[in-house]
Amino acid sequence: MDKFVVRGGNPLLGTIKVSGAKNSALPCMAAAILTEDEVILENIPQVQDIETERKLLASMGAEVELGYGRAQHRTRIKCGVLSDPVAKYEIVKTMRASSLVLGPLIARTGIARVAMPGGCAIGGRPIDLHIKGLEAMGATITQEHGYLEARTDRLKGAHIVFDKITVTGTEDLLMAACLADGETLFENCAREPEVTDLAAMLTAMGARIEGAGTGTIRVQGVTRLHGARHKINPDRIEAGTFLIAGAITGGDLNVDCLNPQHLGSVLSKLERCGVKLDIGKDHIRVRSEGSQSGHLKPVDITTEEYPGFPTDMQAQFMALLTQCDGTSSVTENIFENRFMHVSELNRMGANIAVNGRTATVRGGAPLQSAAVMCSDLRASAALVLAALVADGESILDRVYHMDRGYERLEEKLRGVGAQIRRMGEVFGKR
Ligand code: EPZ
Repeated sequence: MDKFVVRGGNPLLGTIKVSGAKNSALPCMAAAILTEDEVILENIPQVQDIETERKLLASMGAEVELGYGRAQHRTRIKCGVLSDPVAKYEIVKTMRASSLVLGPLIARTGIARVAMPGGCAIGGRPIDLHIKGLEAMGATITQEHGYLEARTDRLKGAHIVFDKITVTGTEDLLMAACLADGETLFENCAREPEVTDLAAMLTAMGARIEGAGTGTIRVQGVTRLHGARHKINPDRIEAGTFLIAGAITGGDLNVDCLNPQHLGSVLSKLERCGVKLDIGKDHIRVRSEGSQSGHLKPVDITTEEYPGFPTDMQAQFMALLTQCDGTSSVTENIFENRFMHVSELNRMGANIAVNGRTATVRGGAPLQSAAVMCSDLRASAALVLAALVADGESILDRVYHMDRGYERLEEKLRGVGAQIRRMGEVFGKR
């Protein structure tokens, strides 16, 4: 099981590049199920979840080529014949976003068998709203032996109001509605950029969608969709993570290949902390005096659906708040168990107390290196950020969590001066 060894103390300097968004690429790859034509996706991140999605599509009979490096991070997918429209448990259990194939499968083939995704470290992660929406569109859904089975002759348009805002729920049902008979009106939709990115790809495939990115989306179903080529958005969460890396280390870092419009709530909180940001069209220069100077100020964070402060940035921002001169509060409204990074940060000398959905961060104490354990994707990123500023050498265990959503993280950080290596590498060798 891989570990990271991180020696803190170096300010990050230079330019670091953001990869494509994992949470855009996953629904866009699933959307290829909706057509028998070839689909080409570019700017795909080289992360474990994408490999899992490739395996999932291939297991159903799709032709999937994934190429990186000279292949410009491109995937070519052709779901000509879906010989086995089943998302098997041994794949789904490693990635709950596999539920994103449910809507496309039933829309394309009239039948889908998808293993119920278990919960994960951050919460129960139910998909009841996906199911409710498909039933409203005429699917018959049964659950047995840990699998969902959905059947229909053809989905029909419906009026669907989401009881809760759900990102993959919006994406799953949006894909299904594209091939339904008639119009579907969705209300209380997720407005995340990943939904808008998916809608752009579906439109390029011939879908008729209005309102993506707002709370109300209207879809006119069509009888078939054709192939398309689509470039995936930059990953706003990776970008936000790197901005915090520059801030927490007191660096001068240019974070390149991002879309500042997707980071509004994070940028305003960083500026409230006293971090200097020069915002360009597709890059942001981040500078700070770091924790030593006492220049970093506390701020309160409350996670909300987009365009509010993203839950996927909560852990990373908390790491920064441990270095701010004063007391901050962090309230997590989206997931019921997303404070697992707190105990590990406290083992590094932070002073964080959790009471229900709110963590109180008493900043200002320097962090000490320690051996810590990664628990989920973004908590792991928070521990890397803390280790970059901690005094000494930290060991981070179970970094496979990070490999799910961060492409070559240690190489990218080493490229801007961080002392980080994956256990077993010769330190400093590039
Ligand atoms: C997506 O998960 C992201 N994953 C998550 O990113 C992200 O944290 C989350 O949206 C919130 O922004 C992908 O896009 C692959 P939700 P998703 O459905 O869609 C409840 C990462 O770090 N809910 O928006 O699963 C749910 O329990 C990952 O990259 C239901 O009750 O999240 C949660 O409390 C982690 N019933 C809330 O809604 C449902 O049917 C929001 O969940 C669906 C969701």
